[in-house]
Amino acid sequence: MKAENANSGKALEAMVEKLALEIQDGSLIGLGSGATVAAFARRLGRRAEEEELLVSVIPSSLQIQLVAEEWPGFMVVPSTMIPDIDITVDGVDQIDEKFRMIKGGGGALYRERVLLQAASKRVIMGDETKHVRQLYRSVPVETSFFARDFVESALLKIGGKPKLRLLEKGYPFITENGNVIFDTDFGIIEKPETLLSEIISIAGVIEAGIFLNECDVLYQANQDGSVQVFEVR
Ligand code: A5P
Repeated sequence: MKAENANSGKALEAMVEKLALEIQDGSLIGLGSGATVAAFARRLGRRAEEEELLVSVIPSSLQIQLVAEEWPGFMVVPSTMIPDIDITVDGVDQIDEKFRMIKGGGGALYRERVLLQAASKRVIMGDETKHVRQLYRSVPVETSFFARDFVESALLKIGGKPKLRLLEKGYPFITENGNVIFDTDFGIIEKPETLLSEIISIAGVIEAGIFLNECDVLYQANQDGSVQVFEVR
């Protein structure tokens, strides 16, 4: 078990290294959020410094912005440049055999979708345990505070079990857009397309963490230490 964990750690390092070495000088990169993107940003930041590359980034959250700001080789540029993004790199909470995803474990789903949709190329990174046949993790549903009770009952009506996301001490988790999140259990998700449109059509819902067409390439860190690359489209 220990050896397996060491292999997974090495595979994660190898995965971020592989992708960091592929980034071209002068690129504009959208950065998703989470631990995997942070590891990638640190590796790319080191490379940009060592090789004196010009790399511009647009972070999807304060978490990843703080990481980006550690590296002088990165230029953090404003959101007005989102339409020019060359590549967005992001993590994932769960991904199925058709490369449909659940995202938003860190609460950055709204900005992540913007950066993913805007990019010419979208690369998702994750470890093997996240790659499943069918999605079954709770779906994060970002909701305006005003509409929270209405959204909660609407999620129940479509078969979900919504749970307001709380911080460790019991305070509600507030997204960077000033909203709350319902982590909503739908069991095994047979039809992610249908479910996404049902959730999104509820008034008061800002964003839902089902991503259908936002993965062009998947970099996967395997338990045996290898890195696999899936070209999706
Ligand atoms: C952030 O809101 C999420 O979508 C992350 O991309 C996702 O939770 C993956 O995070 P880790 O890389 O930390 O597992």
